[in-house]
Amino acid sequence: MSSRISLTQYLVEQQRQNNSIPPQLRLLIEVVARACKRIAISVNKGALGDVLGSADSENVQGEVQKKLDIIANEVLIEANEWGGHLAAMGSEEMDSIHLVPNRFPQGEYLLLFDPLDGSSNIDVNVSIGTIFSVLRKVNNHRGVSEEDFLQPGKQQAAAGYCIYGPQTTLVLTVGDGVAMFTLDREMGSWVLTEDNVRIPADTKEFAINMSNLRHWAPPVKRYIDECLAGTTGPREKDFNMRWIASMVADVHRILCRGGIFMYPWDAREPQKAGKLRLMYEANPMGFIVEQAGGLATNGKQRILDITPTKLHERVAVVLGSKNEVERVTRYHLEQG
Ligand code: AHG
Ligand code: MN
Ligand code: MN
Ligand code: MN
Repeated sequence: MSSRISLTQYLVEQQRQNNSIPPQLRLLIEVVARACKRIAISVNKGALGDVLGSADSENVQGEVQKKLDIIANEVLIEANEWGGHLAAMGSEEMDSIHLVPNRFPQGEYLLLFDPLDGSSNIDVNVSIGTIFSVLRKVNNHRGVSEEDFLQPGKQQAAAGYCIYGPQTTLVLTVGDGVAMFTLDREMGSWVLTEDNVRIPADTKEFAINMSNLRHWAPPVKRYIDECLAGTTGPREKDFNMRWIASMVADVHRILCRGGIFMYPWDAREPQKAGKLRLMYEANPMGFIVEQAGGLATNGKQRILDITPTKLHERVAVVLGSKNEVERVTRYHLEQG
C-alpha cells in the first residue's frame, strides 16, 4: 500500500484527531484547492492559453489588472459560490464583497483571497501564487456586510497559499501547524510532502525591495545597514539578499529555509501603511508564519492583533525568522 497521504485524507484525519476542521471548512479547503488546480492549468499554458498581458481595467487599488488576475478571481468565485460553505467572499480584484447568490444555500464562512499574487511576474515566467484567508461569519442572520469581514487575523479559521513555481505547492494551516502538499499532475491530486513545517529562528537572508531604501523609516534603514555591514559590522556575519517580487514565493522560501521578509511603511505613503493588503496578504501569511514558529508584525504590533477598518486596508509587513523579526520590531519600538 502506498504511504502517500492526499489532501482529503489529511483533512479527514485532522478532523478525527482534534476536531479542528468542521465539515464545511473541509469542503471549503478542498474547493479552494481545486480552484488552484484550475488556475495552475491557466498559468502553465501561458502564451498558448492567451492568458498573458494586461486587461483594459484597473482594480480598486489603482493597479492595472492582468488577464490572469481576472481569470483567477473568476475561477475562485465560481468554484466557491454553490457549495453551501460560504456566506460571502472578498478579493483584491473586487471593490466590495461578493455575496453568495440567493439560489445557493448560505454557509458559515467568509473567504478572502488575493487571486493572483505577484502579477508583475506573470509575463516573465517567474513564480506567482494565490493567497487565501478564512473567517467565520459571526452574525447569525442571512445578511452579510463588509463589517462582518473586519475581524483581526487571529480569528482566522484557516489560511493558505498555492505557489505556481517549478512545482505547484499548496501550503495550509487550520491553526494546528503548517502542512505542504505538492500537486501530482498525472494523478491530479495534492500529496502531503511536508508536515509540521518550522521556520528556523535565526537566518542570514533578508528580502526587501532595496530600490525603496531612501523612503524607509530609520529603524528599517538601521536594520538593513547592519545586515549589509557583514562580518565587521554589529551583526558579525554576512547576509544574503533575495527579492522575488511575489510575496508568495518570498514567504515560501522563508518557510523552506528561514529568512526575513519586509515590505515596510514608505515615506511616499500618506498613511502609516505599507503596500501590502492586511486582509488577504498579511493576515493569511502572518497566520502561516506564526504556525510555523515565526513572527509577523507591522514593525510595532503583531499583524494578527490588528482590527481592520476596511476591506482593502494596507499594512507594513515584517515576517519570518523569529529572532530577526523581534530585532526589527525592537528597533521600531526603541524609536517610539
Ligand atoms: P499583487 O501582485 O497581488 O498585487 O501583489 C504584489 C505584491 C507582492 O506579491 C510583492 O511582494 C510586492 O507586491 C512586490 O512589490 P514591488 O514591485 O514594489 O517589489
Ligand atoms: Mn495587484
Ligand atoms: Mn499580492
Ligand atoms: Mn494579486
